[in-house]
Amino acid sequence: MKLADKVALITGAGSGIGRGSALLFAREGARIAAADIDEQSAAQTVDLIESQGGRAMAIRADVSSPDDAQAMVEAAARRFGTIDILYNNAAIEGPICFAAQISVAQFDHVIGVNLRGTWLGMKYALPIMMANRSGAILNVSSLAGLRATPGGAVYCASKFGVIALTQAVAIEYGKYNIRANCIVPGWIETPMVHRLFGATLPPSSATAPPLRRIGQPQDVARAALFLASEDANYITGTVFPVDGGINAGDRGP
Ligand SMILES: NC(=O)c1ccc[n+]([C@@H]2O[C@H](COP(=O)([O-])OP(=O)(O)OC[C@H]3O[C@@H](n4cnc5c(N)ncnc54)[C@H](O)[C@@H]3O)[C@@H](O)[C@H]2O)c1
Repeated sequence: MKLADKVALITGAGSGIGRGSALLFAREGARIAAADIDEQSAAQTVDLIESQGGRAMAIRADVSSPDDAQAMVEAAARRFGTIDILYNNAAIEGPICFAAQISVAQFDHVIGVNLRGTWLGMKYALPIMMANRSGAILNVSSLAGLRATPGGAVYCASKFGVIALTQAVAIEYGKYNIRANCIVPGWIETPMVHRLFGATLPPSSATAPPLRRIGQPQDVARAALFLASEDANYITGTVFPVDGGINAGDRGP
């Protein structure tokens, strides 16, 4: 097992990529603190983990709230003794409209959840990892964090920011043996994608991946497992696409 005796705090663990990762990490031996703003969905993830013989706890937390983020980290560390892996996965897609049409409240909400939430998780978990002189952080960006898309200004801004934050933490905390890497999912079939595009997937031929299929949460979970595990113990500060090849360039016919 690749994560035996590790403690992983995963945000947005009630759905999609977060849930898929929580289930895989638990099968690999990690104890899981499953955090989500939707307490019921986090509890369902815990039930699924326990039904496969794993150990987990559910935490209700809005990652954009400093109080919630601090309480989330403290609750996980209190229950399981420490935090070895912090997986900042929670995010919202935000409004689909051009920049001038975004309201101030929408802008603040998306930046608050996606960017500040990622920073807050690290802010409160880093001291624990520093004391351990060990830790693995995974932050979830997006292809929209590498290249702007029309209608996605604030989501893109938040996801570009997640990459910057990750790399800053990687260079600042490497001396404590803390690794921070950024996962860049392409199109992954989750409730978020269905909210954006309905039942028709992949969204358009222009974005259809070279591997000719939409990704599944398990595809991201397996990459996250690698980056969180000792197999990646000399890897930090990277931007790691899990996108079926979209980032490589335009696909052939
Ligand atoms: N699905 C894709 O194609 C895709 C592509 C690129 C990046 N991503 C990124 O992957 C991550 C997971 O996305 P997903 O597709 O599984 O989405 P999802 O909507 O299925 O799951 C997101 C989870 O985050 C939770 N959440 C939302 N706001 C929160 C908050 N303030 N505090 C705590 N939890 C909150 C939701 O309740 C939900 O359980 C996100 O960071 C997303 O931006 C997804």
